[in-house]
Amino acid sequence: MLTLRALTLDDLGLIATWLDQPHVARWWLAGSTISDELADLRESVLGEQPTFALLALEDGQPVGWGQWYRCDAYPDHEAGVAAQPGDVGIDYALGDPAAIGRGLGTVLVAALVGAARASHPRAGVVADPDADNWASRRVLEKNGFALLDLRKVPSEPIDSPMAIYRLPPDLSPTTTVSGSVSAPARLRA
Ligand SMILES: CC(C)(COP(=O)(O)OP(=O)(O)OC[C@H]1O[C@@H](n2cnc3c(N)ncnc32)[C@H](O)[C@@H]1OP(=O)(O)O)[C@@H](O)C(=O)NCCC(=O)NCCS
Repeated sequence: MLTLRALTLDDLGLIATWLDQPHVARWWLAGSTISDELADLRESVLGEQPTFALLALEDGQPVGWGQWYRCDAYPDHEAGVAAQPGDVGIDYALGDPAAIGRGLGTVLVAALVGAARASHPRAGVVADPDADNWASRRVLEKNGFALLDLRKVPSEPIDSPMAIYRLPPDLSPTTTVSGSVSAPARLRA
């Protein structure tokens, strides 16, 4: 079972190790550094920026992390991915090499969508992996995201084309959080 919980400062050492893994570094450090990423996560944990950072655990064992944010909290990015009003954005990674390639990333994306929609039930959800990141694109597609565009996104730290995906708002009368995933604690009020 995959669960999410709020990231803590104590988790940052583990995330540094994961960022250094080749399968993560290839995508997360293409235009960034481990210290840049940790600084961003630290600000999120401390409530200094409006991103909700979460640790992912499989049967209680840490395997990766993710985050969600309202796109309108980051206007450059909102414009860059052409987000619609109320949309949230997500980012994710399985850091443990033993965790990839067996369906867990698909569950992680579902969990992040559930976490964001626990606070914003009708939100559309946007993600923009590198266009060459086929595993990431596939887990979005398996979660019902639709490809909107393939192009450079000025707010991203790299100059290569991104694949912009969006999961439309869930307009059903009742919105449920994915069955086996627990909603995370809010990091701040
Ligand atoms: C992206 C990531 C979360 C995917 O997690 P995962 O557990 O490996 O993904 P899953 O096993 O759920 O699904 C992967 C899918 O991609 C497919 N895939 C993997 N590599 C592929 C490739 N090179 N070309 C085409 N499809 C590929 C798999 O076949 C599978 O699809 P299928 O179930 O239809 O066969 C994980 O690989 C990861 O964390 N990577 C490093 C960090 C990263 O890239 N984060 C995303 C940045 S936006």
